[in-house]
Amino acid sequence: MQTTIHEGSQLFAATSLGVNGNSCMTCHRGGGRVEGMLPSGKKIPSLIGAAATFPRYNKRAGKVITLEMQVNSCIANALHGMPLSSDGPRMVALVTYLTDLSQGKPIKLQGASQ
Ligand code: HEC
Repeated sequence: MQTTIHEGSQLFAATSLGVNGNSCMTCHRGGGRVEGMLPSGKKIPSLIGAAATFPRYNKRAGKVITLEMQVNSCIANALHGMPLSSDGPRMVALVTYLTDLSQGKPIKLQGASQ
């Protein structure tokens, strides 16, 4: 498990997931542990607790999206990379890393009680 978390943290910092020189860390600073910043200078929240808010209804997509779908959306839009297979080793490592960032955080499914 520790190895997979470590692999995920390395992938998070790697430019190899895309083709434009960006890594996840370009925007999600400090391994996602601190407030992030887009290239435009716009601030985005840290990823601490983010994994505990998926699956989530995404208004723009008009459907419920999983953490894997969110990761692939960032890979496609922000890194111009190819989507990862949801059960492949790289997605598993990233999801394990992101889930570790939510260790101890309450699961918050929007509309779960409706
Ligand atoms: C160019 C900036 C940028 C890069 C690079 C980027 N992201 Fe994101 N990410 C965003 C933005 C902006 C959001 C806010 C939601 C959206 O627009 O979909 C986001 C949202 C997320 C979320 C959901 C956070 C939440 O609380 O809703 C996760 C998880 C995430 N990104 C993971 C990643 C991973 C993993 C990578 C690398 C494969 C990555 N991101 C690369 C900009 C980026």
